[in-house]
Amino acid sequence: MAKTIRTQVGIIGSGPAGLLLSHLLDKHGIETIVLERQSRLHVEGRIRAGVLEQGTARLMREAGVNERMDNEGLVHDGVSLAFGNRVERIDFRAHTGKGVIIYGQTEMTKDLIQARLNAGKAIEFEAPALAVEDYRTGTPRIIYEKNGERHEVICDFVAGCDGSHGVSRQSIPAEQLTLFEKVYPFGWLGILAEVPPVNDELIYINHERGFALCSMRSHTRSRYYIQCALEDHVENWSDEDFWKELHRRLPSAAKDQLVTGPRLEMSIAPLRCFVAEPMRFGKLFLAGDAAHIMPPTGAKGLNLAASDVFFLSRALTAYYAEKRTDLLDRYSETALRRVWGSIRFSLWYTSLLHKFDEDPFNHRIQLADLTYMTGSEAARTSFAENYIGLPFEKFE
Ligand code: APR
Ligand code: PHB
Repeated sequence: MAKTIRTQVGIIGSGPAGLLLSHLLDKHGIETIVLERQSRLHVEGRIRAGVLEQGTARLMREAGVNERMDNEGLVHDGVSLAFGNRVERIDFRAHTGKGVIIYGQTEMTKDLIQARLNAGKAIEFEAPALAVEDYRTGTPRIIYEKNGERHEVICDFVAGCDGSHGVSRQSIPAEQLTLFEKVYPFGWLGILAEVPPVNDELIYINHERGFALCSMRSHTRSRYYIQCALEDHVENWSDEDFWKELHRRLPSAAKDQLVTGPRLEMSIAPLRCFVAEPMRFGKLFLAGDAAHIMPPTGAKGLNLAASDVFFLSRALTAYYAEKRTDLLDRYSETALRRVWGSIRFSLWYTSLLHKFDEDPFNHRIQLADLTYMTGSEAARTSFAENYIGLPFEKFE
């Protein structure tokens, strides 16, 4: 073993979950190390979601990494839903007094990495964790590789923030995990382009050809998605094909506003929902995508990573400050309650907007649901409070 590092909390993964956790613990004087399999360039180049709930933005401020988010992020006070020949806006601010922030996860990740490096704290890039050992009863160890050599981190706790294909969950014996999974028979084909968005706010579209979403990263950069077949490939789509199909699905009023341009990125994301329970095994804690994957409808994935980190950072801080273990003991139950709360919303919202089959009966039911949802004060309020994010504290 070439190198042994000792720290208080060993964090695997430098996605939003791992990075945010490292900052929040740092604020309380808790020592961490972050191990990341990929290079910094790779991590900072990944195009991911872009809607920050209230609570997520608050955590960024608590971490002290909010300058660019607050300067460049766009505050959105509502979204529009297009269905039939109608477009209905839901006003978050009117119903909840709050909005969401449009700020790319990619930018958030860059900010968190830069701030950690500026503070003189390490992130070991290109350092894949290979295994987590002795987390049940002893002193946990993370075995990792760097420059072809094996090293180890010895720590009090391990935070498995290494996404859905990470090593943390894989280190847990299968019989101790309960897995829940739902796979959808379609995906989202997404484009990112340097063109002004078609609308000031997001438009979610239920169309007879399939779902579409008009989103953005800034006033000059748009992100659009269209529902596609699971077996489809990016190679099947020229930029022109994409814009044509999107144009077909847009509500009439938006069609003239669409500005097209060459792709910066195009990708297909399959839709699925996955949860692994529990989220704690002795001194190993899972957070974010390592424990759960959401369908992207409603943009809950990143925000759930943030809520896990909220509960975990509180629990670890209480342990180091007061030797309290009750919050650590409750972490899994608390985090999972909010996870399932978001799943409920994401799955319902997915079912409301996508084309599942050719049966016109099902489409009629979706239209009736959308009509009720946008027409009832109570239903609009319920939608708004779920979209802007259920308060973390409510689950503690
Ligand atoms: N060792 C070290 N790092 C690893 C390993 C490993 N064995 N396996 C995976 N990683 C890294 C990945 O390279 C990635 O950078 O862990 C990180 C996990 O980050 P994310 O996948 O971004 O997951 P998370 O931080 O939980 O973020 C939540 O919300 O919008 C959704 O899925 C989207 O990324 C998003 C997520
Ligand atoms: C995005 O901009 O990537 C996005 C926005 C809203 C969603 C999902 C994805 O519901």
